[in-house]
Amino acid sequence: MVAFGVLVLHFLGASVWVGGHLVLLLTVLPRAVRERDPEVLLRFERPYERIGIPALIVQLITGLWLAHRLVPGVLPAFALADPLQRLVALKLLLLLGTAVTGAHARLRILPRITPERLPRIAWHVGLVTAMAIALLVSGTILGRVEILLAAP
Ligand code: HEM
Repeated sequence: MVAFGVLVLHFLGASVWVGGHLVLLLTVLPRAVRERDPEVLLRFERPYERIGIPALIVQLITGLWLAHRLVPGVLPAFALADPLQRLVALKLLLLLGTAVTGAHARLRILPRITPERLPRIAWHVGLVTAMAIALLVSGTILGRVEILLAAP
């Protein structure tokens, strides 16, 4: 029952994180670049951040909890000995990549955003969205691998 609740929270966080970045990449950002107006981006970014960052923290906490059930202690996943370990390690590396790319954009690029710098932020958003989708796909495979390995 607890595991079911944690998985639902993990899905909820995934929806917010992946969905928000797809909206940003496919609708908000093209408009900001077209109109050469960073305000278009910031008007989305500021309110989204208030649920996006908590969603990412939820992913980290619930993800570690779920991963601990598959690879006790989680860190042994970096032995990469079987598909479960490799997928858990991949998810942790993708999360680290997301945190580094996101922090760089948030702390170094957004505070000094100009119309000329919009394409640079577009690359960051593209990269974070690609990693979000990779986290979603690897998670879905992880769920199936677990079922396959448990099958008699
Ligand atoms: C933005 C970040 C993340 C997204 C979008 C995401 C997305 C997903 C999705 C969609 C699933 C599929 C669940 C299923 O089909 O049963 C999943 C499963 C899983 N995720 Fe994540 N995830 C994220 C971060 C993490 C992190 C940081 C970890 C830690 C290693 C993690 C560990 C897991 C595990 C272990 C499962 C399998 C759960 C199970 O079925 O028992 N996830 N994830």
